[in-house]
Amino acid sequence: MKISRLITRLTRSTRLRAVPFALGALVSLGAQAAPAQVTMTLQPTQPGAVVNPDIFGQFSEFIGSGIYGGIWVGAKSDIPNTDGFRTDVVQALRALDVPNVRWPGGCYADRYDWRDGVGPRAKRPVTENSNWGGTNNDNAFGSMEFLTFAQLIGAKPFMAVNVGSEPPSNMVHWLEYLTSTSKSAWAQQRRADGREQPWKIPYLGIGNELWGCGGNMTPDYAADVYRRYRAFVQVGGDQHMQMIAPGANGSDYHWTDVMMKKAVKYMDGISLHYYTIPRNGDDMMSATDFDQATWIDTLSKALFMDTLIEKHSAIMDKYDPTKRVALDVDEWGTWFKATPGSNPAFLQQQNTLRDAMVAALTLNIFVDHADRVRMANIAQMVNVLQAMILTDNNKMVLTPTYYVFKMFKPYQGAKVLPLEVKSPDYSVGKVSVPAVQATAVLGKDGYTYIALANLDPTHGADISVRLPQGAFHEISGTILTAPDMSSKNTFDAPDQVKPKTFTGAHMTGQTMAIHMPSKAFVMLRLD
Ligand code: AHR
Repeated sequence: MKISRLITRLTRSTRLRAVPFALGALVSLGAQAAPAQVTMTLQPTQPGAVVNPDIFGQFSEFIGSGIYGGIWVGAKSDIPNTDGFRTDVVQALRALDVPNVRWPGGCYADRYDWRDGVGPRAKRPVTENSNWGGTNNDNAFGSMEFLTFAQLIGAKPFMAVNVGSEPPSNMVHWLEYLTSTSKSAWAQQRRADGREQPWKIPYLGIGNELWGCGGNMTPDYAADVYRRYRAFVQVGGDQHMQMIAPGANGSDYHWTDVMMKKAVKYMDGISLHYYTIPRNGDDMMSATDFDQATWIDTLSKALFMDTLIEKHSAIMDKYDPTKRVALDVDEWGTWFKATPGSNPAFLQQQNTLRDAMVAALTLNIFVDHADRVRMANIAQMVNVLQAMILTDNNKMVLTPTYYVFKMFKPYQGAKVLPLEVKSPDYSVGKVSVPAVQATAVLGKDGYTYIALANLDPTHGADISVRLPQGAFHEISGTILTAPDMSSKNTFDAPDQVKPKTFTGAHMTGQTMAIHMPSKAFVMLRLD
């Protein structure tokens, strides 16, 4: 470990990023002693920002079997379904308390004509999905189906309107169809389609990736376009719809600066897209076949989300010092080479313990920035990229990522507690990351929760947490780990990576001692 790197890190924020401890201790770590010695200090009586449940949101787009086959099978299917929606998938998602779901894209949003997906299904046109493999979309899953699906899983709808290839009038009519209380032709069409009451749409994304598939726009032009479309947003009834401005691609800080400067007063949130993509030169890498160098490279890239949020937030602070505008990370997750034998345009990939670690690290980062990050959407919900669920005909399997989201459920609406973490690094070659990353919250149920990730795949961690005297009496917990970095759940072996009861934490006076195994995510509950 280089001393210069240590000093640099000591001068940076101590939030979430682990602070290296005494140099003497670090020198002895050069010998890769196991387990890592980690200390933490928790302030359980100083609750801070609320963790907006919407940071646990998901995303569903017309890609491969992300919707058709994965969510929608049609009422006549042999696959058990509720009015066309897969019963198994709906049940699994309900169990997660999904706060919101984004649709119809993604890139697809800026090609989508919502009028193709309303009215009697038999009369809907077949359109070409030129974004994702040129497949046919019979539009059986349209606005009504999406909103019904969101309702079935108990999630709020987050809809992205087409800015790239449709004029504002297309959006105006869609909003009228969805939300108008009037007797206009579009509102009457909604009623004819079976929905008397206007739908509640709490979030509206104006376009997607306007810097790329949404229109190859410059930030200046995109900001003007955003202002133009925003001017025509008309929502029926008394509902408040949050407006999400099209945001930056990863570290394009200039984009955020221009969009905020020109349009801050017209937005409630600005989006950010960032994917964790380990590469070998220009080549994408396997989702399941990787070594420790790729493991740490992936986790280090996932941790870059922290830097991104800090830098985009600092820019936002210039124009919005009270943090009225949210930074909404409405696309994030791993992106690997597609499953061998599958259509690469379908973005289908397996999901391993490594994905679970990426999910845990990323969610902890969002929690640590709860004052600014108030919505996020993992890409994607079913069968696409870092999916929560994989299906194949009538089979379904829950991924390691699904279980991380499940373990984080008590964080929804909780308050962030100050937790200082002093961890040594885990290093491979020139890449170093903190061995242990953690956050703590005071849950709405009154319990305190600590979410801990041990990134090191070969060494456990002995963690000593300092607490006020008598603060807690009982500890319980769950752990997600597996024998290998690439352990995964398959249709034939669905329980390889699944949460289990964790018994490795004990209280003695003012200290809680936690022994974490290697490559593990633990959620502790303190009473
Ligand atoms: O999630 C897949 C694609 O990634 C989305 O359609 C697009 O917005 C992003 O580039």
